[in-house]
Amino acid sequence: MFITFEGIDGSGKSTQARLLAEHLRARGHEVVLTREPGGSPGAEEIRRLVLEGDPERWSAETEILLFTAARRDHLERVIEPALAAGKVVISDRFADSTRMYQGLSRGDLRGVVDRLHALMIGREPDLTFVIDMDPDLGLARARARNGTEERFEDFGADLQRKMRAGFVALAAEFPGRCRLIDGNRPAETVAAEVAAVADRALA
Ligand code: ADP
Ligand code: TYD
Repeated sequence: MFITFEGIDGSGKSTQARLLAEHLRARGHEVVLTREPGGSPGAEEIRRLVLEGDPERWSAETEILLFTAARRDHLERVIEPALAAGKVVISDRFADSTRMYQGLSRGDLRGVVDRLHALMIGREPDLTFVIDMDPDLGLARARARNGTEERFEDFGADLQRKMRAGFVALAAEFPGRCRLIDGNRPAETVAAEVAAVADRALA
């Protein structure tokens, strides 16, 4: 079972991915908790290139290639071996993030993202939690972390609003695997809903 968390910056994906991993481990599942961009040593190196520095550093087209290169390495070295060994893989972001951030943020490149995905990745999650949340609150939470990985946060509130609408539409586009979750609630309340959905899917 391959489970992903998607949503805007600061929506609580990392928190929920960690809580779901703890929940499933307590129920006896072997779980690999991972993230994108990154998740393998090579992909973590690419992560630094895409998340640090000036927002204008890369065009959207170049980013599609960089994020897809990172994903291919992550898939080959971490995700596929774990799934083949019968483990549950939980990833904080995956291909839907490229569909949104590179596919929508600077013009309509969704077709290019989808073609490259089909060619180089060709795998969708079994279950995707799309965490929905107020974009200004998400941005404030993300900025409060005060790290160096602020390249996308520096695109600002307009991008964050566009991405929020995009993720809600994405959940409707893939109703078979996506569950839209209200992230404007205490983390434990969100986690209980996520755990119940995952338990049902794993049963
Ligand atoms: P993301 O991975 O989506 O960027 P995080 O899980 O890192 O989000 O959460 C961003 C910040 O918001 C963190 O400081 C986290 O502790 C806090 N946070 C996460 N979930 C909630 C919640 N449901 N309510 C309030 N704060 C939260
Ligand atoms: P992440 O570390 O998940 O940040 P956050 O915890 O703030 O949500 O991701 C960092 C940024 O990378 C995020 O702003 C979205 C962006 N991103 C893309 O633009 N395309 C992608 O394919 C992925 C995986 C992430």
